[in-house]
Amino acid sequence: MSARARVSQKSLRFTESVIREMTRLANQHGAVNLSQGFPDFAAPELIKDAAARAVMADVNQYAITWGAKRLRDALVAKHERFSGLAFDPEREVTVCCGSTECMASVMLALVDPGDEVVVFEPYYENYGPDAILCGAVPRFVRLREPDWSFEPSELAAAFNARTRAIVVNTPNNPTGKVFSRAELEQIAALCRKWDAIAVTDEIYEHILYDGAEHVSLASLDGMRERTVTVSGLSKTWSVTGWRVGWCLAPPDLTNAIRKVHDFLTVGAPAPLQEAAAVALAMPDEYYRRLAESYRERREFLVPVLERAGFKPIPPRGAYYVMTDITEFGFPDDVTFARWLVAEGGVAAVPGSSFYSDAAAGSQRLRFHFARKRETLEAAAERLISLRSHLPVRPASLTRG
Ligand SMILES: Cc1ncc(COP(=O)(O)O)c(C=O)c1O
Repeated sequence: MSARARVSQKSLRFTESVIREMTRLANQHGAVNLSQGFPDFAAPELIKDAAARAVMADVNQYAITWGAKRLRDALVAKHERFSGLAFDPEREVTVCCGSTECMASVMLALVDPGDEVVVFEPYYENYGPDAILCGAVPRFVRLREPDWSFEPSELAAAFNARTRAIVVNTPNNPTGKVFSRAELEQIAALCRKWDAIAVTDEIYEHILYDGAEHVSLASLDGMRERTVTVSGLSKTWSVTGWRVGWCLAPPDLTNAIRKVHDFLTVGAPAPLQEAAAVALAMPDEYYRRLAESYRERREFLVPVLERAGFKPIPPRGAYYVMTDITEFGFPDDVTFARWLVAEGGVAAVPGSSFYSDAAAGSQRLRFHFARKRETLEAAAERLISLRSHLPVRPASLTRG
């Protein structure tokens, strides 16, 4: 009998999430986990109460597949409050199981096999498998340190008649870049020129520093009708396990997205959609305080990383710091990350997992700081004593 593959070719084209693997290693070694980006602090009482009330009120059955009415209404109100853009809750909103499912549903709904999708790199690792699952050909455009800017000619060269979409994540994971209005204008011009759709992942829209402004691509001229805006509850309300996300898009795109979403998951958790409606109505002060609390964490961790021998690039948004690990003298990021978790007691993510070409991230490591102060202090203590555990101590690190 001939050996027949028992799994699909698609599934063979990507590996298990490196980020989740690092979390497993962190648990195994009792390390402080600064790898997978989820908070270790409490979510707002208000929304936990709302969730508990919804369960006790027997909101236990399927919600409308594209989202409970109350949540869709709250979503369009909140989006208009912050971006000034109005959406129709009946025809332009889809609630999914996290923004992750939104992104997969959007790609499967809008992209045909062989279509090209432009992706900035380093990129959030899910976009690679999303592209593979829908048969898309990714075209990567490099964001360059230290400000993670792109070369306009390189971006222009990535577009052509086969380009179906571009994925834009701002504020960005893993770099902390916040795309400027001028940069988004360049992207918008190319989308209009090539009749391409912009899929924007705005999950960190409220986590901004140093006066950085979040601009929704959909708010630029001619982009309302060609943008799918994706976001969710996970980061802004510290509830990554609730799995509630959403996307806003014109009716023809929404129709297709809703169909794919329905057959993938039927719907997001019904009681948590009720709580999400309460979350979205929270006052502006909530969002301001959230950003301020993350600014304080950033201000704590970045100097610690510097002292420990990393070269961090301070983020302008989101809650990650990319660092340069060249000083430590390890051959690559994966070897270093494994050593760091086992011997140094801190888990971080190898930079190569954010690049199509592993070599590009082989001396980079990403930390996140969605952690209580005491967790960050425990990490700091370990990071600062790292140099004494190094297998080989580069001259530059043994000084001081
Ligand atoms: C850029 C980005 N998009 C999406 C997600 C996942 O969001 P959700 O929990 O809504 O699926 C993450 C989580 O780390 C992320 O960093």
